Amino acid sequence: MKTAEQSRNRLADDYALVRAYSEKLAAALSAEDCALQSMPDASPVKWHLAHTTWFFETVILAKQPGYRPVDPRFAFLFNSYYEALGPRHPRPRRGLLSRPSLDEIYAYRAQVDAAMLKACSDETLRDAILLGLNHEQQHQELILTDIKHAFFSNPLLPAYRPELSASHAAQKLEWLAHAGGAVEIGHQGEGFAFDNETPRHPVLLQPFAIASRPVSNGEYQAFIADGGYRRTEFWLSDGWTRAQEENWEAPLYWLKDGDGNESVFTLCGVQSLDLHAPVEHVSFYEACAYAAWAGARLPTEFEWEASQMAHGEVWEWTRSSYDPYPGFKPFTGIAAEYNGKFMVGQMVLRGGSSATPRGHIRATYRNFFPPQARWQFSGIRLARDA
Ligand SMILES: [Fe+2]
Repeated sequence: MKTAEQSRNRLADDYALVRAYSEKLAAALSAEDCALQSMPDASPVKWHLAHTTWFFETVILAKQPGYRPVDPRFAFLFNSYYEALGPRHPRPRRGLLSRPSLDEIYAYRAQVDAAMLKACSDETLRDAILLGLNHEQQHQELILTDIKHAFFSNPLLPAYRPELSASHAAQKLEWLAHAGGAVEIGHQGEGFAFDNETPRHPVLLQPFAIASRPVSNGEYQAFIADGGYRRTEFWLSDGWTRAQEENWEAPLYWLKDGDGNESVFTLCGVQSLDLHAPVEHVSFYEACAYAAWAGARLPTEFEWEASQMAHGEVWEWTRSSYDPYPGFKPFTGIAAEYNGKFMVGQMVLRGGSSATPRGHIRATYRNFFPPQARWQFSGIRLARDA
């Protein structure tokens, strides 16, 4: 049995580990790199480092008697979307924040960390601290997705890390049958979960089959070679319009050299396309078009969860729109705006990616993005009716 003292120390250790990992991710980057914003959807690394700190300061420290904010102006700069907390700097202009400097942001982090380590010994703050840590882990993935997009926008195509990623072995695709029926969906019990994963509830499934692994680059290449991006019959109307407007011909980071050979931009720089690796950086629209071409469909998020898929290679688009579960109740307080208000116009992704911190992956986790989003590590798993 864990004593209260051990539980407090464990929380302080977890806090220190998660906070250090964000700084480790940023350590490979220069101050100039950390200030870049390549598009409105992406944020500078510096902003992620500051915003996650602001979150702890606002949700936890600001409520402690006698606490004075490190810099009261940071509330305007580093609030992301919390309307209840007042006006904020516009998201598309985060790349203009050359001040405060990166050094000042690290000093901000250190000051908040010192206060937070004391807060970790207060058992009544445990849930709020766990929320802050899971929030920071979400931003750790965004640090990688956003710097990848920023580096892709640089004609020099710099590498975030020098080592090459491991190549994948060929893996046969098998269809795993599920008998359908009533299944229990959502989080229950011990351990952290976001409000959007609850309450656990029954869902009735029809019999179906789901692919044993995500769609590979080689399979996606065959879709392109068969005219996948030019054949309207595979596309949702909105998807076709978007593909035409943005001239989509391949996943976001695929490149072609003069001889027509395909390579791909990765966090390790430009590499030859690994035909057995899961295809990444496709939108929901491309995922649906591929599935139609392959004579299949995307799984619903409930089919996905009921199938107990392996996680962590690539986020997998599902055919489920991001909706509240029956009986959904948002977190209380400031965090009420965390998830619920985004439940319109977005699709659920399941799994986890190579950029997701390992402790942040679980079967009930619901990621969500608009159907046109491509800069996330998003891929495809097929399903079909039985
Ligand atoms: Fe955030």
